[in-house]
Amino acid sequence: MSELRAPDIAHLGPIELFTPKPQESVDFFTEMMGMEVEHRHGQSVYLRGWDDYQRWSLKLTEAARAGMGYCGLRTWSDEALERRVALIEAAGLGRGWEDSGDDGIGRAFHFQDPEGHRFKLYSEVERYVKPVPTDFKNVHGKQPNRAVAVKRFDHLNILAGDVRAQRDFATGVLGYREYERIELNDGTLGGSWLSVTIAAHELIYTRDAYAAEGAHGRLHHAAFWVDTREECLRAADIWIENEVYVEFAPSKHNVAQGFFLYGYEPGGNRVEVTSGGRLVYAPDEPCVIWTESDRAKGQAWHNPTVHTFHTYGTPVFEPRQSA
Ligand SMILES: [Fe+2]
Repeated sequence: MSELRAPDIAHLGPIELFTPKPQESVDFFTEMMGMEVEHRHGQSVYLRGWDDYQRWSLKLTEAARAGMGYCGLRTWSDEALERRVALIEAAGLGRGWEDSGDDGIGRAFHFQDPEGHRFKLYSEVERYVKPVPTDFKNVHGKQPNRAVAVKRFDHLNILAGDVRAQRDFATGVLGYREYERIELNDGTLGGSWLSVTIAAHELIYTRDAYAAEGAHGRLHHAAFWVDTREECLRAADIWIENEVYVEFAPSKHNVAQGFFLYGYEPGGNRVEVTSGGRLVYAPDEPCVIWTESDRAKGQAWHNPTVHTFHTYGTPVFEPRQSA
């Protein structure tokens, strides 16, 4: 067996989302997701889930079109950061250092994956300090008295024309492990579920249905964590009552076993409230391969996947209609 060792990257986040409706998006994440505004700077609003250890995990930035600005990746140390920067530079995908970036995050290195999605690699970060200590010394914040209150940013799913190229970059250059993937009949990859932790899905690439027509660098969804399935169901009730667009009602994914609720925030980005999911303890756990016939069964309980789940992403791409 080849030598296995701890990865240089500790976890993903925070994430920046672009929104053409900044106030409505802030209202959604505070009132429908239970996040709090940590601070504001320029055209951006920084929000935190109640158990985020960092000051913030979501940055909403006003922009003409929805989509992902960047996703942060924190390394275990400055040495780990330098090691990965050298590998990214060698791959020709570095975009340079940022000395004074987002509040609370130290020196950061910008890069892109082969698809063009932006990432920010950093080591040092300010931790959130509770304004008033509570008896829960091991909880980073204080849960709000809201019906829906996500704890933290959990995982990211981004779209790509060539999933294999992104997977190879993530495993070969960034040091991710691939826990599960979809292999299509034509030999291409439909999706790859990657992680640097025991959580079965942290960074997910799935195929952009419109890549051949020019779609590029799109976001599929950003997922936010709650501890129970019941909280996902409660979120669905509250979203419906408040006219949030529910795209995919609560159910369970077969891949990675995550429980989900999907909807679109007012800016157009797909957002997930998630819980559960497989944890991988074995250092030599084999990658799970899903085939087209497996996927034809639908989600975990054989309920069909809604059509837009395979086509919608942000920025929104309108394929040319055939005459
Ligand atoms: Fe997800």
